[in-house]
Amino acid sequence: MAQATYHFPRGFLWGTATASHQVEGKNTNNNWWRWEQEPGRIKDGASSGLACDWWGGRWREDLDRAAEHGQNAHRLSIEWSRVQPAAGRWDEDALDYYRQIVRGVVERGMTPLVTLHHFSDPLWFTEMGGWTGEDASALFEPYVAKVVTALKEYVSLWVTINEPNVFAVSGYLFGDFPPGLTNPAKARRVVINLVRAHAAAYHTIHDIQTTARVGLAHNYHCMKPRSSSSLLDRWAASMGRHIFNHLIPVGCSSGVLRFPVWHTRIPQARNTQDFFGLNYYTRELISLDLLKPGQAFVRRSYHEDDQLSDTGFIANVPEGMFEALKWAESFRLPIIITENGIENARDDLRPRYILGHLHQVWRALNFNYPVKGYFHWTLVDNFEWERGWTQRFGLWELDIETQARSKRASADLYAEICNQNAISSSLVAKYAPELLKSMFPG
Ligand code: NOJ
Repeated sequence: MAQATYHFPRGFLWGTATASHQVEGKNTNNNWWRWEQEPGRIKDGASSGLACDWWGGRWREDLDRAAEHGQNAHRLSIEWSRVQPAAGRWDEDALDYYRQIVRGVVERGMTPLVTLHHFSDPLWFTEMGGWTGEDASALFEPYVAKVVTALKEYVSLWVTINEPNVFAVSGYLFGDFPPGLTNPAKARRVVINLVRAHAAAYHTIHDIQTTARVGLAHNYHCMKPRSSSSLLDRWAASMGRHIFNHLIPVGCSSGVLRFPVWHTRIPQARNTQDFFGLNYYTRELISLDLLKPGQAFVRRSYHEDDQLSDTGFIANVPEGMFEALKWAESFRLPIIITENGIENARDDLRPRYILGHLHQVWRALNFNYPVKGYFHWTLVDNFEWERGWTQRFGLWELDIETQARSKRASADLYAEICNQNAISSSLVAKYAPELLKSMFPG
């Protein structure tokens, strides 16, 4: 077997990604907390509760571990409902605490990448109409200005909004996220308002901080027709790709949202990304299914041969990462992989998933795709939205009763990759020998 090492570029960012509501705990003033109290909304009736107790201070030990394990960057998010607990009221103590956290990231030798909106909204904002309201963007913008002014000493990499496509589809089309609607017209309105809010945030951030680099975190689903000979499946997959993958990123470069039926111009959104944030997890097969009106008449499944995560949520398809990067490259921006990972409590699939996906990132770099960093989802098991605590994405396992953390083997694997800034054949032999032949032929 060939002995070889695949190197990554100097200065490559290696980190993990987290989000406020999923790790902080006791986020009682947002729409997710309220949603968690409604019966039947969250798997097993769970609640985010203390989450990973970051608001209680455990961010310190988790970030210590990240830094000790070779990571040189960390992506985290700010909870709007903490910074602005009521319309027109700011919580300076909360902002100070976030300053401590981002300073903590920097002091540990890691570059912070900060997300301003990651799925959760303040209750007051929801009550004022939320993302379907006319003034959503106008309400979001002062919060952005406040946070950027407070944190700019430590942070210059910003994600305005995490996965706007998932947010709109899950909350307003499929009904899995609050407010639980299945209303295409409202989903459309939300997309428009999110893009407006992103554009406003982009310009505001640049007004406050000239060195800022601003982007979104786009979720890319690799979608193939279930049957390539079925015209209907092909049509459904191409519709899915257009609406879910392309619509928003194209809107943020062209200033036009090309909905299937009519277009909406948002000129201020033109060229409002300094980097392309990419979240890639999986590939799915799409077929048209008239019995699924609540899922936009689409059935999603995996290929029979795919290796699946614990709850069947993610299929391990590394080639999809290459496809996602090729697509992202067409936007002609530096690319940051803002999320990638798998739920796997026993950690028997994760090493293969990490190595396979990073091999594709390395291949993309050899095609000169400008990939600047990779953030694994996630550092420690956290609250997985409507799936509650049933999915374990962490490099560290969390015992939610005791808050104890235990290291999974993947944390050491990832540490070796980060420290060497490379993937070697001996590392693959140690953690996923079944990949040796395909990754190191010859
Ligand atoms: C993407 C989302 O940004 C994150 O919040 C979520 O936990 C992961 N996907 C895994 O489901």
